Amino acid sequence: MMTDPNELVRNAIRSVPDWPKEGVTFRDITPVLQDPRSFRALIDIFVYRYMRQRMDLVAGVDARGFIIGSVLAYELNLGFVPVRKSGKLPFNTVAEEYKLEYGNASVEMHTDAVLPGQRVLLVDDLIATGGTMVAASRLLQRLGANVVEAAAIIDLPDLGGSRLIRDSGLPVFTVCQF
Ligand code: PRP
Ligand code: ADE
Ligand code: MG
Repeated sequence: MMTDPNELVRNAIRSVPDWPKEGVTFRDITPVLQDPRSFRALIDIFVYRYMRQRMDLVAGVDARGFIIGSVLAYELNLGFVPVRKSGKLPFNTVAEEYKLEYGNASVEMHTDAVLPGQRVLLVDDLIATGGTMVAASRLLQRLGANVVEAAAIIDLPDLGGSRLIRDSGLPVFTVCQF
């Protein structure tokens, strides 16, 4: 029997209770990446969704978004641009702050990472509160990008992030939910 690709991916995600702190269930994608069947199924889900959408670039969020974003960009024959945690990029940058559970964090991009009007697919592994995706999308928009969709492997809908992103006007696509 053929296994549904979304189920194959979902079943390969490891749930680690109480990590990094009590009460949090960490959804670990490393087993998906480690297994060639689920890794290919994952990338193919995104490739089939975006192959006819005439994207110009894939933007991936530091760090786990780099892993799938760069492979997807390669498969779609697109360029890849990193949205990095602050202090890592050497050229002129723009930054956007966002809230974590405790305190603030910020992400940066090079000012020449996108051209005005370019159609950009924003990729990360997981949407929790949505703060990371919203900040990354704001950065891209400040650079003039047309952010077409936010794509992730996992949505944690109880945390409200995907709703927040959609409410900001950005469509969201995820492979599975927990
Ligand atoms: C994790 C995850 C997402 C983000 C989601 O990244 O990879 O990028 O949190 O949370 P949010 O929706 O509440 O913003 P994190 O920065 O913890 O670590 P990483 O460097 O391993 O990607
Ligand atoms: N980032 C934020 N919340 C997470 C979770 N529950 N599992 C993995 N990464 C996360
Ligand atoms: Mg991350």
